Order: sequence, then structure tokens, then C-alpha cells
Amino acid sequence: MLAGPKQPDNVIMKKKQRKNLKILNVVGARPNFMKIAPIHRIMEASETMKPILVHTGQHYDDSMSKIFFEDLNLPEPDIYLGVGSGTHAQQTGAVMVELENILMQIKPDLVIVVGDVNSTMASAQVASKLCIPIAHVEAGLRSFDRTMPEEINRMVTDALADFLFVTEESGRQNLLNEGIAPEKIYFVGNVMIDSLLSHLKKAQNSDIISQLNLDHQQYALLTLHRPSNVDDRDTFHAILNALEQIEKKISIIFPIHPRSRKMIDQFQFGSQIEKMKNFKLIDPLGYLDFLHLMENAKFVLSDSGGIQEETTVLGIPCLTIRKNTERPVTVEMGTNVVVGMDPDKIVDESLKILSEQSKQGKIPPMWDGNAAQRIVEILERAL
Ligand code: UD1
Repeated sequence: MLAGPKQPDNVIMKKKQRKNLKILNVVGARPNFMKIAPIHRIMEASETMKPILVHTGQHYDDSMSKIFFEDLNLPEPDIYLGVGSGTHAQQTGAVMVELENILMQIKPDLVIVVGDVNSTMASAQVASKLCIPIAHVEAGLRSFDRTMPEEINRMVTDALADFLFVTEESGRQNLLNEGIAPEKIYFVGNVMIDSLLSHLKKAQNSDIISQLNLDHQQYALLTLHRPSNVDDRDTFHAILNALEQIEKKISIIFPIHPRSRKMIDQFQFGSQIEKMKNFKLIDPLGYLDFLHLMENAKFVLSDSGGIQEETTVLGIPCLTIRKNTERPVTVEMGTNVVVGMDPDKIVDESLKILSEQSKQGKIPPMWDGNAAQRIVEILERAL
């Protein structure tokens, strides 16, 4: 049985008749919401497109989902599949079964999927077998590490997509190397950065810094949830030991993902963490509060994908606690340093930043806030 919320009735909102292209925008997990928001908004204003928002329910906690709809001003999903958590096969299968039903009823002209989560791949597979064209936003990113579930999701989705929208030049190159036809690939920029730039001002009204008793630039922000880091006891413990060294020099704020909280309990790391007086665990934050914390941090430690991009645009140093990155432009041009999971390296790089030797970066090409506009224009012309 899949855990998760009860499935609400599917509700399909009535749209204006003159819009004749039915576009199904699919989201499932937290990092999807800020990617679809600018696309959905432009399509709502379009003369020709009727966007329909589908939420698979892969993430269902209010703090992982609902708050993002509010912060991003996204409308309630038109359709909620309520698939919840489970193993990879359970989750992927559940999205496929539920979405197939919806696609057969609605018969959209296009399905848009974003990012690399299980919902992304599952939706692409279903649409593909029903011969419905697919657009993949954030195509072509590769870590070349098939132990990452996201790498499998990216490869399968890209193999099936008809429109592949890439965020950086490496994406185009990876797709060409995999034999994707060049005319399917569009370098459009980064929709996640569209959302970031359009919400920065609003995020400045957040009072999260004072709520947490922090001062501008006097803390490091941490996110950690990747299975390779938190599901393995030794790896998680090594990272925690590094954090124990760092928190002696600067406070660390850790908005904690449900997976990581579960693993802290399971591995009984609670007593070690209690002794770390400057290490603050807090519930997952909404989009605006997180953006505000990120913008004002001394530096960020993270194993996330999108945060590598957001810190590059904000000019905040980012240490990526992973062996590799699928977003090389953030290292080549941006503020990102891939430090791996070796505690000494994590501590050394943090100390460098604290002694004002952090890496300076530039904003990558086309990360200008207009990616969604480009995507919609390309689709309008093509469809
Ligand atoms: C998923 C994505 C990952 C992304 C991350 C962002 C895949 C394979 N992974 O990982 O790429 O970086 O989202 O958060 O799709 N849980 C809750 N409440 C929720 C959602 C999840 O408690 O609202 C717990 C459940 O115990 C669940 C676990 O978190 O089993 C993992 O959730 P899941 O969606 O399977 O993967 P994430 O680790 O969140």
C-alpha cells in the first residue's frame, strides 16, 4: 500500500473556449513547483493555450507542497492524483496508472514535465505510449552516475521527449552525444531562475531571519536529503562530523527534509546533534522564507540540484556535498564547489569561505528571467 493522503476528487476547471491547445503541466515534488510556475502563468495569459495543472501528489505534506503553491501564486491543481510515497516502482507505477486515465479522458495536445523526479519520468512514459507529444524542461543534465535515481529519470525522459529545453550548453552537448536530433533541442535558459528573479523582492519581506534569531551573513544554510548521503549510516555520520567542526565557527541552519529526519531517528544521531549548540534543525521552509535565508547566508552547504543554480545567481558560495554535479556551469562559471563527502574537504572549504577566500562567480548565459517566455513562444509556433 502506498502511504499518503486520501485522493480528492479530480476536478477539471472550466477554461475559456477560445483557447484550443490543451497543455497538461505536470508537477509532483517540491523542486517541480518553482519550475512550472512561470510557464503555467504565461500560458494562462496566452490566447491559444489552455494549461491544465496536474499534481501527482508525490510530495503531499503542506510544508513540501501546499506552501509552494501559495508562495508562488500557483492556482490549486486542476487534477490531483494523490499517489504519495512508496518504493520507486510503486511511486512510478502509481503515477502511470492514474495519469493514463487522465490523459485518455483529456487527450491533451502536449504534456510538459519538468526536472528529474519520479513523477517526471512516469508521466513521460505514459504520454509517450499514448502518442501525446512531450516537452521536457531542464533536459540534458547528466551526472553520469547511474546510482542516482534522478539520472535514470533524466535519461528516460529525454529519450522520450519531443521538445527538449536545456538550461546550459552541457545539456545540449549531452543530448547530441546520446543521438537526440538537434532540431528537438532548444537552449532557453532556466525557468527556476525565472521564479527566483521574480520572487526576490517579495522574499525580502520575510521575517525568517529575525524569527530564527540570526544576523545577515552570520550563518550557513544547509540542506541534505539525497539517499546516497542520508540513507547510509557511515556517510551521514561523516557529514555530521564535518558539520560539528563547522558549527564551532558559524551557526548552521538546517531546514530538514522528512527523509533526513527519519534517518536521524533511525541511526540515533539525536544525542550527537543535541550537543551541537549552533546547529539548528527546523521544519522545511516555504519558497520565500528559504530564498530569503539563502540570499543572506554566508554560504550554503547542500546536496540539492537546484540550489547550486540559485546560489550561483545570488552570488552566494555553495559547497555541494556530492561526488558530482549534473550542472557543471555552476562550477565553471558560478559560485559552486563540489566537495564530495570527505569531512576534511567539507571543513577545509568552509574555513576558506570564512576567511573570505570564497569563489566569485558570474551568471550563466540566458539565466535572465525569460526562459518560460521563450518556451511558450517556441511551443506556440510549433503546435
Ligand atoms: C524527491 C526526488 C528528488 C528531489 C526531492 C526534493 C525522486 C526520485 N527524488 O526525493 O530528486 O531532490 O524529491 O525534495 O523523485 N515524505 C514525506 N512527506 C512528503 C514527501 C515525502 O514525509 O510530502 C517522505 C516519505 O517518507 C518518503 C520520503 O520522504 O518516503 C521520500 O520522498 P520521495 O518523494 O520518495 O523522494 P525524495 O527523497 O523527497
